[in-house]
Amino acid sequence: MRRPQLPEQAAECTGPFRLRRLVPDDLDEVLRIEQAAFAHPWTEELMRRELTHAWSTILVAEEPTDAGERIRGFVIFWLVHDELHVLNVATDPAQLRRGVAKALIAETLRVAKLSGAALATLEVRRTNTPAIKLYEEFGFRVVGVRPNYYADENEDGLVMLLDLP
Ligand SMILES: CC(C)(COP(=O)(O)OP(=O)(O)OC[C@H]1O[C@@H](n2cnc3c(N)ncnc32)[C@H](O)[C@@H]1OP(=O)(O)O)[C@@H](O)C(=O)NCCC(=O)NCCS
Repeated sequence: MRRPQLPEQAAECTGPFRLRRLVPDDLDEVLRIEQAAFAHPWTEELMRRELTHAWSTILVAEEPTDAGERIRGFVIFWLVHDELHVLNVATDPAQLRRGVAKALIAETLRVAKLSGAALATLEVRRTNTPAIKLYEEFGFRVVGVRPNYYADENEDGLVMLLDLP
């Protein structure tokens, strides 16, 4: 379990978006996006707990605007041994289909490969077509079903997997 090498301020650029590690000042905005994006959002406590785990990373995608940098979306992932696990990705609902999530997942896979990950996994709701399509674009494939994984809505989880070259 190790924290991937990713500077906090110097960021990767993907299209108009800058990808960087979340800092505590970003939390309010990330929580706002989380609450807007999900019917059952993570709590602030859960999000803060991620910051304490050496194996967990939260990246934000931000974009320069006339009013300064604005966070457009975020991703939370774990790197444990040689496995990347994507826990959460969300885009500000006002910024959908602009490539925010694509930039976040691309950066996540880049960081994971640099850290020596050989495999990427995630769970997604069976009915979440936008997310499934997003992951499929990167080569993730469905390898299993977890019945009633999302018990809040009685919904199955699909397990998706990607071998990292
Ligand atoms: C899933 C989600 C993160 C996608 O974010 P986004 O920034 O709009 O995605 P992008 O613009 O980067 O799209 C990348 C690709 O994903 C797929 N995609 C995204 N939204 C889609 C939609 N509504 N319908 C079908 N495919 C979609 C497409 O393949 C798209 O590529 P394209 O635009 O070239 O066709 C966003 O819809 C979201 O925040 N949803 C709510 C939270 C959530 O469900 N997260 C996933 C948890 S597992």
